[in-house]
Amino acid sequence: MCGIFGYTGEKTSPSLFISGLSRLEYRGYDSCGLAAILNGKVFLKKRSGKIHQLKKDLRKNRNIKIPICILHTRWATHGSPNKVNAHPHTDCKKEIAIVHNGIIENYLQLKNELIKKGHKFISQTDTEVIAHLIENFYNDSSKTEITLEKAVLKAVKKLKGSFSLGVISKKDPEKLIAVRKGSPLIIGIGKNRSFLASDIPALLAFVSKVIYLGDEEIAILVKEKIKVINFKGEEIRPEIEDVKIKLEEADKRGLEHFMLKEIFEQPKVIRKIFSSYHPAEGFNFPELRFSKDYLKELDKIYITACGTAYHAGYVAKYFLEKYCGLDVEIDVSSEFRYRRLNLKKDSLVIAISQSGETADTLASVREAKTKGAKILSLCNVMGSSLVKESDSVIFTLAGPEISVASTKTYTAQVFCLYLFSLFLGKLKKSLSEETIGRILKELEKIPFYQEEILKESWKVRKIANRFSRFGSFLFLGRGINYPSALEGALKLKEISYIPAEGYPAGEMKHGPIALIDEYRAIVCIALKDELHEKMISNMQEAKARKGKILALINDNDDQASSLSHNVIYIPQVLNQDLSPLLVAVCLQLFAYFVAKKRKCEIDQPRNLAKSVTVE
Ligand code: F6R
Repeated sequence: MCGIFGYTGEKTSPSLFISGLSRLEYRGYDSCGLAAILNGKVFLKKRSGKIHQLKKDLRKNRNIKIPICILHTRWATHGSPNKVNAHPHTDCKKEIAIVHNGIIENYLQLKNELIKKGHKFISQTDTEVIAHLIENFYNDSSKTEITLEKAVLKAVKKLKGSFSLGVISKKDPEKLIAVRKGSPLIIGIGKNRSFLASDIPALLAFVSKVIYLGDEEIAILVKEKIKVINFKGEEIRPEIEDVKIKLEEADKRGLEHFMLKEIFEQPKVIRKIFSSYHPAEGFNFPELRFSKDYLKELDKIYITACGTAYHAGYVAKYFLEKYCGLDVEIDVSSEFRYRRLNLKKDSLVIAISQSGETADTLASVREAKTKGAKILSLCNVMGSSLVKESDSVIFTLAGPEISVASTKTYTAQVFCLYLFSLFLGKLKKSLSEETIGRILKELEKIPFYQEEILKESWKVRKIANRFSRFGSFLFLGRGINYPSALEGALKLKEISYIPAEGYPAGEMKHGPIALIDEYRAIVCIALKDELHEKMISNMQEAKARKGKILALINDNDDQASSLSHNVIYIPQVLNQDLSPLLVAVCLQLFAYFVAKKRKCEIDQPRNLAKSVTVE
């Protein structure tokens, strides 16, 4: 939700900053803007809409060279996505400019106090209050020698909520101030220059070393000089880390959309996870810091996550229960955090999140920790808030995911959890060595099966083109592929805007079957597993009501084929528990091609943002 980019160093053309900001556009694309200190003044350019508009505007200032600036791409929370509400925001005298990611919960109260003191507001945002608050402390006449960082420090102590900030001022024209509380912010360390950004992809072209700013920390950047203090004003020594991601990983590489690139990356990601967490010597989860005794004794696990990550957890519930003899409770984080769960000291909560910044998932984790629970997170982003707040982590190793719709991180989450469940099954002796060996062999083959599906993506495209005319979809699955149906429906609705629902097929007759007629497309996951016969009956019921069935089936399934208008073949895995890893690829392709046919903005669907840092 919102992307921040900042720079201090040699005078540079705005195109460099635009290229950095563009890599954060997945975080929001309602409006954008830049503020710089130029010729002793704050230079401001703002636009509603996407970054290419700002780029166009800045072309008119082709010859300017900027020594220090902050930029922003917005996902609107307070106030409509127009130019006035676009960041950066300034104080009354336009001497201070700020960009913000997050939410200021007490902004109304602060705004009223500042208005009483004579401050003039022009936007409906919560952010503008921060600029005026800094102005208030900066211009406090009783303190003659207040620096920008001191004014910022005083201001942030008054703020409630989550925020990362970039601040510049014409009165302290060399300083770029970065603040983190609850929302991510990374400092890029360059030669004679420093950067700040909400996420690593924006920095890849410029630096190889970074600092993940910690919670309640402030960085003062003057060219390459970096000083970090905490909210108490004490100086701290930040940890400098190497950037482990390559620039090419965050590039489309000639493909039309990041989503397609990311779908095709899945076999590579799965191979990486397998070789990292199950090398020749056996299971190896370097960041799993729980003792074997603790894991052995577990009899219940709680899973919390949102959206696609929740569906990954839902798949995992099936095999964790089956392989490890555990009770597994799963909830979307926005419910989990408010439920009166019977969490005890040392209960295990698994939090799944691609970004590691999802507000509800973080709140669930914090709530669980107050009850003494231990947190294992599955996360794709190093240095994220979730990683910092967890007792143990399994990184999903999927590389940067830029498309708003999650694809490769979903299968990565599911795959990591398969390996974890086998590891746990081994510790708890709920699985024999022989069974573990057999499942591992099948897991190792998953990338090959996924490649088979990807090679035939043109077939999925043909069918998707046909089905793209439908106005609504039902996705049906049973057992471990019920969450696959949920995920298939989510992918389709978020990028094509077609209403789509995922249902457990057996539940149809309790209501949803009333929806079926010849205008309804029904995607049935009907693989040859233990529930195949039941699924066939559900397909018959749908066909009898004239629903148009697209079935995902295994080879030689004449029964399912005869009930369907179209079929997509899914390679048959010996262990059908692993089939969600194949079904997902197929349904991602299907959603992608439907959205493409309908000319939707695939990588940046309307109203969405990749990282949901608000409740
Ligand atoms: C859907 C999608 C979202 C996210 C959800 C959680 O394609 O991407 O549903 O899965 O917002 O995000 P993370 O995983 O970052 O916590």
